[in-house]
Amino acid sequence: MVGAQWGDEGKGKIVDLLAQQSDVVCRYQGGPNAGHTIVTGGETFKIRQTPSGVISGRTSVIGAGCVVDPQVLLDELDELAARGIDTSVVVVSGNAHLIMPWHVAIDQASERRLGHLQIGTTRRGIGPAYADKASRIGIRVQDVLDPKILRQKIEVALAEKNLWLERIYEVDGFDLEEVWSRYAGFAERLAPYVGDVSLLVDEALRDGREVLFEGAQATLLDLDHGTYPFVTSSNPVASGAATGVGIGPTRIDRVLGVSKAYVTRVGEGPFPSEIDGPEQGRLRELGGEFGTVTGRERRCGWLDLVALRYAVRINGITSLALTKLDVLSSFPELPVCVRYRLRDGTETEHFPAHQSDFHHAEPVWDVLPGWSHDLEGATSLDDLPTEARRYVEYIVRELGVPIELVGVGAARDRVLA
Ligand code: IMP
Repeated sequence: MVGAQWGDEGKGKIVDLLAQQSDVVCRYQGGPNAGHTIVTGGETFKIRQTPSGVISGRTSVIGAGCVVDPQVLLDELDELAARGIDTSVVVVSGNAHLIMPWHVAIDQASERRLGHLQIGTTRRGIGPAYADKASRIGIRVQDVLDPKILRQKIEVALAEKNLWLERIYEVDGFDLEEVWSRYAGFAERLAPYVGDVSLLVDEALRDGREVLFEGAQATLLDLDHGTYPFVTSSNPVASGAATGVGIGPTRIDRVLGVSKAYVTRVGEGPFPSEIDGPEQGRLRELGGEFGTVTGRERRCGWLDLVALRYAVRINGITSLALTKLDVLSSFPELPVCVRYRLRDGTETEHFPAHQSDFHHAEPVWDVLPGWSHDLEGATSLDDLPTEARRYVEYIVRELGVPIELVGVGAARDRVLA
C-alpha cells in the first residue's frame, strides 16, 4: 500500500482496514516523520514510528529501510500498552538506522539556515539520518545492543558532528557520555523487539500468510521519483518495500495506491492544482487538513490526474483507494486537473520529467458537477449521489485502474468496497 500523492492520503485508515485480512504488517521506509491517524472503536490513535498493524494485534515489522528514533518508538509503545494494545507483536530490524540527537539538531539548524529555500521537513532528523546511512557512518539498531560498539560509533560520529554543529550551525554540540548512557539505556527496552525481519517475512510468505507493506509518506515525496528536492530521504514507492524489508520484488502480488479525492501537500515546492482563492481554506477546514506530526496547515488543491497517472506508473498500482470523498460534498463544481500546460504552450497528460517544466506547469481543468448531500448514510456505492458516483467512475476511466475502496468518513467502517 503506497501513498499516491504527497502524503496524508488517509493511509492509516486503509492500512488498518487491510490489516484485518493480513498476518504481518511492515513499515519499509521512513521514520517518525509519518503520522498515521486511526480511528477505531471510538478511539483515536496517532502513531508515527510503529506500523499501523499494531492496533489490530498483527505482527508489526519495522524493516531495515526505516530510521528509528528509539525515544519516539518506546514512548509510542508505552502509550499503546497503556491503552491496552499488545505491543509484543512489534519486530524491529537490527539493520534499521537510528536517529541520533544530532540528526534532529542538524535537521532543525539546516532548515533555519536555508531560510526561504527550506524544504519544510518535519524536523525529526530524517534527512540527516539517511545521509549518514549513505555515508556509512550511521548507527544501527543492533549497535545499541553492544555498549562498547555503541560508544565507539558515537565517539566517531560526534568528533565530526560537534564540529559541524558548533562551527557551521553555531549551536551546541553533544556530550559523548550523555548520549552514550542515554542510548545504551535504550538497549534493555529495545532488545526484545529486535529480530531478523527479512527471514520473518520470507517465512510468513512461504507459509502462505498475508503480508502487507505499509508505505509512509508517498510517491511524490520519493527521494528518486518525487519532486526533488522537496521530498523525503527514503523510497516510499512500491519497489522500496522489497529493499526496505529484504525480500525480492517478485514476492509482491498487488499494489494498492491510496489517493485523496483531492490533493494536499505539506511543506514547500510546486503544486499545480493548488486552489487559488477562499475554497482552499474551506477545503482545509472541511477535511481537517492540519499535520498529524507538525500541526502545520496543509496546502489544498483539486484532484490532479497527471500526478496520479504518474503514481500508477511509478508504483505499478493495480488498484486505488480513494479517500475523503465526503469532504467534497457541498462544492457545487469540482475541477479536476487532467493535463498540464507547459511553457511552450503544449499540453501533456504525463508528469514532466524535468523539474523546470513541472515548476511552470499550469493545470488544464475538466469541471465535474458536485453534490450537496452528505455521504454519512451511504453503505454501498449505490447509495452515493449520482454525481459522486460519476466522480469516482471518471477517475477510473481516466487512469484505467479500478478503485476498490472509497472513503466516506473518518471512522474505520466508513469505507465502501
Ligand atoms: P522529512 O521527511 O521530515 O525530511 O521532510 C521532507 C518532506 O517530506 C517535507 O516536505 C515534509 O513535509 C514531507 N513529509 C514527510 N513526512 C510526511 C508525511 O507523513 N506526510 C506528508 N508530508 C510528509
